[in-house]
Amino acid sequence: MISKTMEQALNKQVNRELYSAYLYLAMSSHFESVNMKGFAKWMRIQAKEEQMHALKIYDYIITRGGTVSLLDIEAPKAKWSSAGKVFDEVYSHEQKVTAMIHGLVDLAIKEKDHATFEMLQWFVKEQVEEEQHASEIVNQIKIVGDIVGHLFYLDHQLGKRE
Ligand code: FEO
Repeated sequence: MISKTMEQALNKQVNRELYSAYLYLAMSSHFESVNMKGFAKWMRIQAKEEQMHALKIYDYIITRGGTVSLLDIEAPKAKWSSAGKVFDEVYSHEQKVTAMIHGLVDLAIKEKDHATFEMLQWFVKEQVEEEQHASEIVNQIKIVGDIVGHLFYLDHQLGKRE
């Protein structure tokens, strides 16, 4: 059984993962609106991954005899001024999520909750990858700059994500 404090903290993380899904879906929709189908596809797959993250914690709460409480999901913004700005936001958002996961790990340590600590290790590793992928794309966009042809090439490359 998890403590009420941990239950509340994990429920909040379910909400933040669902917000991440919402944010990336908004980014996908934005890219659709500017006809960058590859970026749109990348974001849509990312949104799906975030739903999976939320459900992983959701299932864990239930497995440990806790209660899932779904909270309001705030609406993300809908427009960005450039592909670079979108990915800058992805990177900083993922850094925030990493800090949240680390906060949960700290709480698990404080509560001597070994099972939750173990479950969270998957997320600790996942965040390393999430930050790496976002920062790589930020750098790629910086390299291609405002050259439209190069940006469309990058769009095509990101569209290969499965
Ligand atoms: Fe679920 Fe992108 O962190």
